[in-house]
Amino acid sequence: MSPLLSVRDLKVSFDTEDGVVAAVSGVSYDVEAGKTLGIVGESGSGKTVGTLTIMGLTRAVNTKISGEALFDGKDLLTSSEQQMRSIRGDEIAMIFQDPLSSLHPFFTIGAQLVEAIQVHRNVSKAAARDRAAELLGMVGLSDPRSRLSSYPHEFSGGMRQRVMIAMALANDPRLLIADEPTTALDVTVQAQILELIADLQRQTGTAMIIITHDLGVVAEVADEIAVMYAGRIVEQASAADLFANPQHPYTRGLLASIPRLDRDRSIGLDPIAGRPPSMISPPGGCAFHPRCPRAFDRCSEELPQLEAVAGSSNHRVACLLEPAERSRKA
Ligand SMILES: Nc1ncnc2c1ncn2[C@@H]1O[C@H](COP(=O)(O)OP(=O)(O)OP(=O)(O)O)[C@@H](O)[C@H]1O
Ligand SMILES: [Mg+2]
Repeated sequence: MSPLLSVRDLKVSFDTEDGVVAAVSGVSYDVEAGKTLGIVGESGSGKTVGTLTIMGLTRAVNTKISGEALFDGKDLLTSSEQQMRSIRGDEIAMIFQDPLSSLHPFFTIGAQLVEAIQVHRNVSKAAARDRAAELLGMVGLSDPRSRLSSYPHEFSGGMRQRVMIAMALANDPRLLIADEPTTALDVTVQAQILELIADLQRQTGTAMIIITHDLGVVAEVADEIAVMYAGRIVEQASAADLFANPQHPYTRGLLASIPRLDRDRSIGLDPIAGRPPSMISPPGGCAFHPRCPRAFDRCSEELPQLEAVAGSSNHRVACLLEPAERSRKA
């Protein structure tokens, strides 16, 4: 069976006054129907730009896009704006990074949900309201029918995020893209929202892409994980393999910075030293080499390609270190 979404060699760059921003530089991945892909990486690694491009939301005169994004066999990158409008919010839905600005402050939750339904479905207002109430119930809001007449400001951040999820699920999408669905929320609410997302996925069978900078967030919910650094995937594996046998020094750094309840707080987290590079003039060779505790001379000269990790067909890493070196303790 071919995957629901198949992205091949996706490249996105922006022509700006300061120079060309190479936001995504050749990314490939598959999302199987009903499965969850986690895309993980620090700020600026190209996570959002990549998925916005697949949704047709980065098209502009200063944007250069190449590659392929086959959804059900049809290339989204070359689909017309009109075709994309009918796909967005219907077959593919997105929960945006900033849920507060995605809800309109002047309209009730009900009006906004009804609109999201009626854009794509030829149903009566009464039927759309029934569906809206059903959706609010699904995302765990009590007394959903009366909530329809509330305004966004009457809801807490966690409740607004639930409404955004309800809105994304309104038309039973086949693919749901959740961009940092929990960052604006406190830790307990984050955990509840993730549980809700995992639950809804089990119920609806929707395929998902979850974007986050926190590997801990996708540990429980993702089947596959792609780790991005500076516009490229540097490691890709099943979630189980990635946690059991991380290969890239960057992945290992991300793992070390996951807050864990069972760790003594006085030891603290071990964040990766340094900052992500500018995407206008990223470092040559492996873009991670200036921050990499394991870098050696070749790393500044050669761009590592994603290659299979011995012993696992689906685990791939882009790193010049010898395999034995990669898993050695620092
Ligand atoms: N419209 C644009 N014009 C120019 N540069 C852009 C544009 N949109 C994004 N960028 C740049 O592209 C790079 C990738 O941005 P992107 O938003 O995809 O990062 P991200 O991985 O989602 O980060 P975050 O975790 O902060 O959301 C960044 O350097 C960003 O500044
Ligand atoms: Mg982003």
